Amino acid sequence: MAGSDLIELAKRRGFFFGSNGAYGGTAGFYTFGPRGAALKRNLEDAWRDRFTLKEDNHEIEAPTVMPEAVFEASGHLEGFDDMLVECGECGASHRADHLVEDATPIEDAETLSGSEIESLIHEHDIACPACGTPLAGQDVEDFNLMFATNIGPGDSKPGYLRPETAQGIFVEFPRLKEYARGQLPFGVTQIGPAYRNEISPRGGLLRLREFTQAELEQFIDPEDDAPPLERVSDVEVRLYPATEQETDGETYLDVTIGEAVAEGIIGSAWVGYYLGVAREWYERIGVDMGRFRFRQHLPGERAHYAADCWDAESEIDGDWIEIAGFAYRGDYDLSKHGEYADDTFTVFKRYDEPRTVERATVDPDMSILGPEFGGQAKAVGEALERLAERDPDAFDDDTVTLDLEDGETVTVDVDVANFSIEETTETGEHITPHVVEPSFGVGRTVQTLLSHAYTEDEVDGEERTYLDLVPEVAPVDVAVFPLVSNDERLVDLADRVAADLRDRGSAVSYDDSGSIGRRYRRQDEIGTPFCVTVDRDGIEGEGPESVTVRERDEARQARVPVTDLAEEIDALLGGDDTTFDDLLERHDSVETDVETA
Ligand code: GAP
Repeated sequence: MAGSDLIELAKRRGFFFGSNGAYGGTAGFYTFGPRGAALKRNLEDAWRDRFTLKEDNHEIEAPTVMPEAVFEASGHLEGFDDMLVECGECGASHRADHLVEDATPIEDAETLSGSEIESLIHEHDIACPACGTPLAGQDVEDFNLMFATNIGPGDSKPGYLRPETAQGIFVEFPRLKEYARGQLPFGVTQIGPAYRNEISPRGGLLRLREFTQAELEQFIDPEDDAPPLERVSDVEVRLYPATEQETDGETYLDVTIGEAVAEGIIGSAWVGYYLGVAREWYERIGVDMGRFRFRQHLPGERAHYAADCWDAESEIDGDWIEIAGFAYRGDYDLSKHGEYADDTFTVFKRYDEPRTVERATVDPDMSILGPEFGGQAKAVGEALERLAERDPDAFDDDTVTLDLEDGETVTVDVDVANFSIEETTETGEHITPHVVEPSFGVGRTVQTLLSHAYTEDEVDGEERTYLDLVPEVAPVDVAVFPLVSNDERLVDLADRVAADLRDRGSAVSYDDSGSIGRRYRRQDEIGTPFCVTVDRDGIEGEGPESVTVRERDEARQARVPVTDLAEEIDALLGGDDTTFDDLLERHDSVETDVETA
């Protein structure tokens, strides 16, 4: 399948399409149509089920606009840049590192400096993809990806659309820890939009300027908290570690999570745990495991906050695409916000037993320091306190030398400090939690599912395209058709069947237009797992009313009494391992040319 076939199907069948077409289109923005919105919602529900509910985490919903101070603290204002080169001839803007990757064997050009990229553009004679003019000599500049806005009128404050949902979690840590009763470990999740003013949006949903992230921030005590690794230690994963990437290209390690963590291939047990959970979840939602791997970031590639990072990658049209990142962020985020913000980003860690500790204290005699140091006396007193904490032995001498905050050095008599060692009992200490972050791109996962589900085959001698989506994510659970629309008896029963299935919670599509074969093809193309057709055989004759149920992948059909239908459909959709073979054991198979009728 060419990528363009999928993008065309996505548009034709209402999965997604470029936004604002009536106004010429806006690059980097996509609208999810009715089928795509349903698929995306199902995917988000499946993520919520696995990463929030089953992990007993807490989901929040924070605003998408945040004040500048947040991004000063997080480092995004300073360092959330991509490399931009503009064509001197036609003015088109390009990701300079991507141009180098396309023209050379280099795979991670974003780790290079701007001047190295400029030299490579020159050496390889790289030209503007839009007009063909050589780009040699053009400056490569850092371009900050955040969308700026103003908060309020008049003397408004600068704000930014959040470039990741994560910051909405970090800034609320002081309150979120209260909801977790101050106990580590705990996890907070969020699903919502993120915004990046990408230089060159491309690939359908793959690189957008507005996209949905599903993120989990796991707060841990790095000394004491271990993940429940035993739950996933037997999960088999295909790893592409940094060492393999640096040597000979595509050599993978097929190992279990337990082995990879034990052997230190995955540096953090928490990261290992979530790689295992994610591997199982991706399989559950229908990602082709033959086109999936975890790739470790190369040292120069890691984000400014990440100590170790692995990406989940899926293969789409021959390219490996990052669909999620798993980062060990250490205490970077909470320390930064603790430093910049006016609140406490630590938790109190209670010791098992109270501890008696010796603490050096001073009680500077200001009646001596005042006359001697005048306006500097307070600073001298504070410097004595700092020294007592840092180097109590210094007070064994007759005098101590102090470095004041303004850079001056002074010497004072030890006696004025009133130095003493006191014993105190401490019940715990304040620690800054570390963060482990699985961060998923929802749109990229949608595109992966569509690409991996896209199948072409033949039914009854006719070519068809179908999406073998798993029922959990398919936009429509079951389609209901009256064989013909001009027989009231068929229409009435089809209406009843559709209403009944809807009442039970299924997403039902009712279709009475066109030949039955055309209607099957339409459902195949959106991945509907089951179609129910009401025909005359089912309402005429002796037996109870019945309908045909047709499954998507092999187009097999069974005749099922209407009284059993809802339960059978529930079982098939319910993921409790009921298969169409089971249905065929209980009900008659239908050999029919109805596909092409
Ligand atoms: N909080 C960490 C973070 O945001 P990231 O690797 O920059 O990490 C996480 O983004 C995920 O978001 C990526 O793995 C990708 O799936 C998705 N993503 C990032 N930029 C995107 C874009 N411009 N368009 C679509 N998805 C994107």
